[in-house]
Amino acid sequence: MALMNENYLKLPGSYLFSEIARRISEFKKENPDADIIRMGIGDVTRPLVPAVIKAMHQAVDEMSQAATFRGYGPEQGYEFLARKIIENDFTPRGIPVDIDEVFVSDGAKSDTANFQELFGLNNILAVTDPVYPVYVDSNVMAGRTGSVNAKGQFENIVYLSCTEENGMKPSLPQTKADMIYLCYPNNPTGMTLSKEELKKWVAYARDNKAIILYDAAYEAFIREEGVPHSIFEIEGAREVAVEFRSFSKTAGFTGTRCAYTVVPKDVKVFDSQGNAHSLNKMWLRRQTTKFNGASYPVQAAAAAVFSEEGKKQIQETIHYYMENAAIIRAGLESAGYKVFGGVNAPYIWFKTPLPSWDFFDKLMKEAHVIGTPGAGFGASGEGYFRLTAFNTRENTEQAIERMKTKMIF
Ligand code: MLT
Repeated sequence: MALMNENYLKLPGSYLFSEIARRISEFKKENPDADIIRMGIGDVTRPLVPAVIKAMHQAVDEMSQAATFRGYGPEQGYEFLARKIIENDFTPRGIPVDIDEVFVSDGAKSDTANFQELFGLNNILAVTDPVYPVYVDSNVMAGRTGSVNAKGQFENIVYLSCTEENGMKPSLPQTKADMIYLCYPNNPTGMTLSKEELKKWVAYARDNKAIILYDAAYEAFIREEGVPHSIFEIEGAREVAVEFRSFSKTAGFTGTRCAYTVVPKDVKVFDSQGNAHSLNKMWLRRQTTKFNGASYPVQAAAAAVFSEEGKKQIQETIHYYMENAAIIRAGLESAGYKVFGGVNAPYIWFKTPLPSWDFFDKLMKEAHVIGTPGAGFGASGEGYFRLTAFNTRENTEQAIERMKTKMIF
């Protein structure tokens, strides 16, 4: 008899975005003509930019010729891409990163979910609440958490509540935490931390021999000066942090799949005897065993994101989405909602007059607009709602118009 991994029994019935997709498809069955505008999952709508497409075509052509064909590539990614990443994302900010500290992958979702494997099951994790559900669910699957309470919160997780009262900024853990997940600019609240605020987290991690798992998937959307783009802008972070980055939202790769993780060689974890071990070596060991690298055409396409025309073209797309964000923010504010985010992130988070799943249903049924209920991101997300700026200009304007006219309370 094959026994199951019983940790799966602790999880909510379905993944947040699968549950949303299920509700939409049920609604569509009964209302096939409804013109639904999707601002739920953070999925992009603008096509890949011409520089990226050109590089991808070229790479595909190379694969068709014996002389330029490539089989397995390095599991941690091609050096040509890692070099471009360092030269463009880190060197200009004065952040030293070595070539063997960059690990290219097929997505930040898989990297953030897989990375926990390198840690013992007795670690306590800290997450912000609300939080991107992947950090929590992947740790539940691994067996790092205990039982779940009525609020859907797990034993062995320290939840750092982010609400209107604290301006959506988490306080340092009051009880010990070993693995700290931070995501800035934040998904789902769209808020950022200043350098001063981030320094406190690095100091906490250093004092407690904790590791910060820093998700910077949305850094390209930062518009304001002075907001940190990388945790490695903070002195001392190289010893206590790893950083996840993604081409998904930055360059429209949600369907193409490419991301990378920076694991400095200075970050150490400890065995039960107190001996230090390199997380970089462990991640290399893990990736070379379980992953065969992102495909060559995809990595060639990702490298083109850093060409002069590629950079210009993706900035135009990001600007387009951030104009949508401004439209959503202004529209919601004028409709009387209390709004957060949307200034340095493609997510807009606002307070709802109804419990968040009820607001979801009403918005879908009456305005035919899809968003994400705050409760899906954690107990402190109840009473809030998230919209994304990734739809088209027309749909964004239309959705806000419908919210103003159809969501009357
Ligand atoms: C989100 O909507 O939170 C994200 O798109 C999900 C993801 O990136 O996996």
